[in-house]
Amino acid sequence: MIDLSLHILDVASNAFKAQASLVKITIKENSTTIQIWIEDNGCGMSQEVLSQVTNPFYTSRTTRKVGLGLPLFKQTCEQTGGFLEITSQINQGTMVHALMYKNHIDAIPMGNLAESLFVLIMNPYNCDVAFEMNFEDPNKTPFVLDTREIKEVLDGVALTENAVSIWLKEYIEKELL
Ligand SMILES: Nc1ncnc2c1ncn2[C@@H]1O[C@H](COP(=O)(O)OP(=O)(O)OP(=O)(O)O)[C@@H](O)[C@H]1O
Ligand SMILES: [Mg+2]
Repeated sequence: MIDLSLHILDVASNAFKAQASLVKITIKENSTTIQIWIEDNGCGMSQEVLSQVTNPFYTSRTTRKVGLGLPLFKQTCEQTGGFLEITSQINQGTMVHALMYKNHIDAIPMGNLAESLFVLIMNPYNCDVAFEMNFEDPNKTPFVLDTREIKEVLDGVALTENAVSIWLKEYIEKELL
C-alpha cells in the first residue's frame, strides 16, 4: 500500500460489510511510533476466520479469491518492526490494533488522512464514525469527530447535503493539517 490513510480506509471499510452501526478509529502518534485502532460493532468473526484472516489466501468475498486488506496492513506494520493484532467476537465486533515504527526505513507515510476520513464518514451504509487523532505534539489538542454528534446538531439534515459535506471536508482538512 502507498500510505497509511489507504490502509485505514480499506480496513475501516470492512466494518460496513460486517453491518456495523459504528466504527471507531483512533490514531496516536509519538516521536517513534504510530498506533491505529479500528473498532467496529459489526458481525465479528469466528475463531476459524480470525485465525486465517491475515493470510492473503483467505477471504469471504466471492468476486475474487484473496482478501488483501488485513494481510497488507499487517505487512506494512511488520516491515517496520511493529505488529498488527486483531480481536473479534461473533455478534459483538472486531478490533484491529496496528503499531508501526515510523522512523524505520521501510515505514510508509500517513498520506491524505483527511480524504480517507471524509470518504468514511460519507459512507452510504449509515454507519457512524467516531474518529480521534492524537498528535505527536502533546500541546496540540486531539482532533475528535463523531458523526453521531454532528447528526444531532444537523437535526435531520443529511451529511451528504452539499453545504454540509463541503463544510465537513474543509473542517477536516484544516484540523488534520
Ligand atoms: N471488521 C470485520 N468484521 C467482520 N469480518 C471481517 C472484518 N474484517 C475482516 N473480516 C473478514 O476477514 C476477511 C478478510 O478481510 P480483508 O479486508 O483482508 O479482505 P476482504 O475484505 O475479503 O477483501 P478486500 O479487503 O481485499 O476487498 C473478510 O472477507 C471478512 O470475512
Ligand atoms: Mg477488506
